[in-house]
Formats: sequence, structure tokens, C-alpha cells
Amino acid sequence: MKSACIDAFTESILDIRLEEKPVPQPGPGQIRVRMLMSPVNPSDLNFLHGTYHQALQRIIWNQGDAGVSFDPAHRNPCPTPPYALGGEGVGVVDAVGSGMLARRLRNKRVAIAGGPPHGTWQEYTLADAKRAVALPTAVPDEQGAMFFVNPVTAYVLVREVLRVPRDGWLLVTAAGSALGKSVVRLGKLYGFKTLCVVRADNNTAELEKLGADAVVATDRQDLHAEVFRLTGGQGVKYAIDCVGGELAAQVVRCLGLDGRLVLYGTLANRPLPLPVRDLMMPVAHVSGFMLPNWMLQQTPLKLLSVLRQVKRLTVEGIFTTEVASVYPLAEITRAVSAALQPGRTGKVLLSMGDN
Ligand SMILES: NC(=O)c1ccc[n+]([C@@H]2O[C@H](COP(=O)([O-])OP(=O)(O)OC[C@H]3O[C@@H](n4cnc5c(N)ncnc54)[C@H](OP(=O)(O)O)[C@@H]3O)[C@@H](O)[C@H]2O)c1
Repeated sequence: MKSACIDAFTESILDIRLEEKPVPQPGPGQIRVRMLMSPVNPSDLNFLHGTYHQALQRIIWNQGDAGVSFDPAHRNPCPTPPYALGGEGVGVVDAVGSGMLARRLRNKRVAIAGGPPHGTWQEYTLADAKRAVALPTAVPDEQGAMFFVNPVTAYVLVREVLRVPRDGWLLVTAAGSALGKSVVRLGKLYGFKTLCVVRADNNTAELEKLGADAVVATDRQDLHAEVFRLTGGQGVKYAIDCVGGELAAQVVRCLGLDGRLVLYGTLANRPLPLPVRDLMMPVAHVSGFMLPNWMLQQTPLKLLSVLRQVKRLTVEGIFTTEVASVYPLAEITRAVSAALQPGRTGKVLLSMGDN
């Protein structure tokens, strides 16, 4: 089978190779999935560049000899290459390991949350049956491929972590992203107001059509002044940021008293330059969020209930994401390069059926 892999962490997308490999065999609790489609997400690049690995090496629970992992219990290791890339996708379960959950998914079309070493940018991959959701026929492959990373995160951030109340303002940076647009739709559904921050206007019309309550384009508007104007000088109570750097520091200054900011991405790849008083004066709460770690902290019942909600909302179209282009797996470098273009208005997908 064909597999898009890297041999070592690298800055260059040209180092992603298409390799011929044997089809893997599922172990206990695992399913083997014949992949149909997989998106190119910003988080995939962290596994290319080694960003997660470097960050985790600084975390206290990774000091020692136990190897680098995402969680203190070391149940979720952060792998090092060589491995196949790709963090999620859709496919058909064609073989299963032992276990009830895995057996129930045999021959089903499933969305999977995967990630290296069992990347989804391959013709076949292995996944933990607990991180697979059988999809109803109403969900097309394109949308099923993007079921986990963004929809689950968007839902969990607004409904579980921040619990944004009806009529509350939620400031969303990189609002033109797939996740940002989903948050805007969730705002319409649950009645909170979205203050969308974009760096340019390429997604503004779409965000307004989706029901954004305000869009601020930082290439032509002053974020602080706009938030002051929109909130009657009070600032926002809730904010989510996936850019980091100077923008995230500005967002802290846009928080109202007791305001809460969740940092969940690093698109600017810059640290947070923050005078401590900017946090102290508004008694601000700033926290980090990482979906796989949040999932690990949940009871199986809680996780099931969240995945059910996301599945229902997916069928209702709340998370429908525009597709910018679809590339065959054989054109992996072109696909990743297209995903890196600024000003994109939809997702880049890989199709495993066309190779
Ligand atoms: N922590 C977690 O568990 C978790 C889970 C899911 C997603 N995420 C994060 O959520 C973010 C959005 O993901 P996605 O898949 O929805 O993204 P996406 O659809 O690929 O879109 C990326 C967006 O980010 C904007 N952008 C890129 N670099 C930027 C910068 N330096 N400053 C401002 N805007 C920038 C782009 O704006 P233009 O239109 O102007 O180019 C584009 O709208 C990513 O950071 C991802 O890693 C985190």
C-alpha cells in the first residue's frame, strides 16, 4: 500500500515521501481502515516539524527516562519518525482486532481520529476502535473525513470548556478557519454572539453569511478599538485563540473583568509577549486546550455523549466545511503546499481512492 511518511522531523514539505509498505494487521482493540479521504490540517504540520515533540520535552511529566508522551500516565506517547502522517479521515473498516468495540465496526464506514505513527495519509491505517465513529449515509465522505479534529474541538471549547452563555460575546481569532466557521454556526444555534477576528477580508462575506455578529479585519482595523466599540467598553467575557504571538496578547487586553481566554493553536508560531499586569488587572483566566488530552480526561460515557452530539450536529450541517481542493495521495506535496497558502477559503483533502 502507499503511505505518505517522513524519516525524521523536518521543516521542508519536500521531505514527505510516498512509500510502498505492507498492509498493517490490527492488534487488540484496533480496527484496520481502508482510507477514503483525509484532510490536511494545521496540526498535521506539528508532526512534520516536531513541534509537539519539542514542546512536550519541556513538560515536567516528560523529565526522566520514560519517553516523551502527551499525558502524565504515559498512555499516549508522542512518537518520533519514521512514521506516516495524517491525523484524521474517513474509510471503511476491513479488518478488526479483538474486542467488542472493534468487532461492532467491521465493514462500517467510519470517521477516525488517528495520527502518527498510524497516520491517515495512507491507503490503509490502524485506529483505536474507541476513536472511531460509524457514519450515517447522510454524511458525505468529504465531511466525514473532517469529523473529529475541528468539529469536536469547536463543540467542546464552547459547550464544555467555556460554556458560553446565551447572549455572551465570544471572540474568535482566525475566524475564517474551518473551526472558526463552525463556532459561528454554533453561536447561531446556541444563541451566543461571535466577534470574529481575521487578518484579511477573504472570509468576511462568508462569516457574515453564516451569522457572525461582528467581523474585525486586523489588516485595516484596530482590534482593541473595535472590541471597545462593540461591547460598550466592557470587553469580551470569552475568547478562543489559535494564532498566538502578538494577536493573543492583544486578545488578553480585550477581555472583560474575569474574562476567559482559551489558547488552542499556534498559527503565528510566536510566543505570547504578555505584560503580567495585563492578566492581573482584569483577573483574566488564560488556559490551554488540546483535544487528545481532553479526550483522555473524560469518562467513556462522557466521551460517547459528546461524540453523539457532534454526530447529530454533523448530520444537521452545523460543521459543514467547504472543500477548497481534493488531491490524490500521490500528489501529497502539492496538497500540503495548497493547504499552506494564505487566503484559502476551504479545506484541502487527500483522496486515497484515486491512486
Ligand atoms: N488544540 C486542539 O486540540 C486543536 C484542535 C483542532 C484545531 N486546532 C487548531 O485550530 C486552528 C484552526 O484549524 P483549522 O483546521 O480550522 O484551520 P484552517 O481551516 O486550515 O484555516 C487556517 C486559518 O488560519 C488563518 N491563519 C493562518 N495563519 C495565521 C496567522 N499567522 N495569523 C492569523 N491567521 C492565520 C488563515 O487565515 P487566512 O484566511 O487569512 O489565510 C485561515 O483562516 C489551528 O491552529 C489548529 O491547529 C487545535
